[in-house]
Amino acid sequence: KRQAISAEPSALDPSQLTDVTLTKKLFFCLFRSSDLIQRALMDNDFMKHLEHGQILTIMDCMRPTSLTKGCCVIQEGDDGSTVYVLEEGMVEVTKEGKKLCSIGPGKVFGELAILYNCTRTATVTALTDIKLWAIDRQDFQTIMMRTGLIKYSQYTDFLRSVPSFQSLAEDVLSKLADALEENRYSDGDYIIRQGATGDTFFIISDGQVKVSQQISANDEEAAVKTLSKGDWFGEQALKGEDVRTASVTAVGDVTCLVIDRESFKQLIGGLDDGSDKQHDSDEVKVKVEISFFFLLISS
Ligand code: CMP
Repeated sequence: KRQAISAEPSALDPSQLTDVTLTKKLFFCLFRSSDLIQRALMDNDFMKHLEHGQILTIMDCMRPTSLTKGCCVIQEGDDGSTVYVLEEGMVEVTKEGKKLCSIGPGKVFGELAILYNCTRTATVTALTDIKLWAIDRQDFQTIMMRTGLIKYSQYTDFLRSVPSFQSLAEDVLSKLADALEENRYSDGDYIIRQGATGDTFFIISDGQVKVSQQISANDEEAAVKTLSKGDWFGEQALKGEDVRTASVTAVGDVTCLVIDRESFKQLIGGLDDGSDKQHDSDEVKVKVEISFFFLLISS
């Protein structure tokens, strides 16, 4: 019986799909629905960190579907093929026959199996007639991957445009771009505090920062210099000295690409690696070239 009424994969059954002809009335419904989908994605613990662009693309790929009261939308243990946003009605979530909770409109469900590549962790049944928005696993994963690739290509383009990084070989730039993460700061935020321990290296990709130093305990912090897009700081950390020698604060909104010592070691390898070894593999060449680069900038 479940097979006959399950929304998976029969959610693709055209007879279950709402007619999406672009009538004026439907246009207004879709407008309202897109707001609901956006809020639902941002409210979900596992998706609230998605970027705005990713959310918009997911919304674009969602299709409406409706199911009647009693339908099994998701069966525990099945392979998951769809992520849902509930627009109207109520569903019940059960695990091994025990009720976990009920879910109402404006919530995402069915995300766990797709995000974690596991089987369905619970059964979801329609308590009333329901209206859903659905996105296929394939589309969802492609959006995630494509956004990652765009970001990677933006980082490599940016690094190529910075004079300090221009002498790096393509493969070294790629490794670096892979390891970078983006941090954002607001006006006045301390990015680094003098005297604190730290192991992060920063490259400014947007905005300005102020570097200031306190010479002795009784002195005020004095501004040393201002750094802007393409400049970097915090290099001491990658050299091995972990006490910060100056404070760095954001001037207006600032975006930095960052890499910490651990990621750097894991992705690139040891900094002191093999300047006298034979460079007979790309891997070793990348390690040596990056090590050399960081020795240069930290000297
Ligand atoms: P997934 O495992 O893909 O399919 C079943 C869904 O039920 C699961 O994703 C979650 O969206 C939802 N779910 C599982 N456990 C709980 C819970 N304890 N509370 C709320 N929702 C849950």
